[in-house]
Amino acid sequence: MATLAHKETDYTRLPDLPADVYTAPLQKPEHVGDDWLEPKQTSYTSDDDAIWNDLFARQMDVLPGRAASAFMAGLQKLNLNRGGVPEFGKLSEDLDALTGWTVVPVPMLIPDHVFFWHLANRRFPAGNFIRTRETFDYIQEPDVFHDVFGHVPMLTDPVYADYMQEYGRAGWKAMSYNRLKALGALYWYTVEFGLLQEADGIKAYGAGILSGPTEVVYATEAKSPNRIMLNVDRVMRTDYVISDLQPTYFVIESFEDLYRQTVERDFDRLYRSLPPGFTFANSSVIDLDNVVQRGSLEYTLRGGRGSGADPV
Ligand SMILES: [Fe+2]
Repeated sequence: MATLAHKETDYTRLPDLPADVYTAPLQKPEHVGDDWLEPKQTSYTSDDDAIWNDLFARQMDVLPGRAASAFMAGLQKLNLNRGGVPEFGKLSEDLDALTGWTVVPVPMLIPDHVFFWHLANRRFPAGNFIRTRETFDYIQEPDVFHDVFGHVPMLTDPVYADYMQEYGRAGWKAMSYNRLKALGALYWYTVEFGLLQEADGIKAYGAGILSGPTEVVYATEAKSPNRIMLNVDRVMRTDYVISDLQPTYFVIESFEDLYRQTVERDFDRLYRSLPPGFTFANSSVIDLDNVVQRGSLEYTLRGGRGSGADPV
């Protein structure tokens, strides 16, 4: 059956990056090998641990009632509030016992094909460094707080954990069709900025939302953004903004729904029909959308972050 990922590939072997596939140019530090893994996790100072604790406390002011229940349960299961930056060895032991995943330290953003390979083998690469007081509110490059606090609790959910592994395996097929941008959009609108319909309202499960204080409230409650039920074909044709709050979020019914919509779909046919670039702007609502809430786009139209507009 045609699916998100090839069934017959040996996913234990690091894939080659095809010469014609473009990815972000990243300079590999000399001390890491082809797997891009740090030999060991950084030793954090007491200031670093205090930054983690303050970031943690700030999120706990806004997450209850807005974060997906699976995320809140994951925080508990992994005892992420025990104080200071979590030690990856202990964290991996706990996570491995739950869903077979581990957390491995990387120095910075890593190339797509290496990232896919780790995910396909149930290893989550997490940034080793932590932001400073100067960049406390906003950093562009994911640090250990974004990666561990934002992503790892969701990996305690068995269905979500399987989805992440399948996403990694999907990289091989996307590279063979040279459609990494489209697969990247799927990651963006689910793993980073996904919303979930729960019985008592819309909750956030995406790490990009959950690791910052403003977007948690904006994504779940503001009038500005569009909220549209996830449709994989549509999402993979949709552009996204990386340095501001999203004009549009996509909503899933459940993690089983996410898994079925993606993993069990015929991606060969989809990739053959996808143009190389994006078709839809990140603020557009199109005819086939199943709209949960059409946004006023007020924040975006006022100029977003750069204009100082309120995230309403
Ligand atoms: Fe992330």
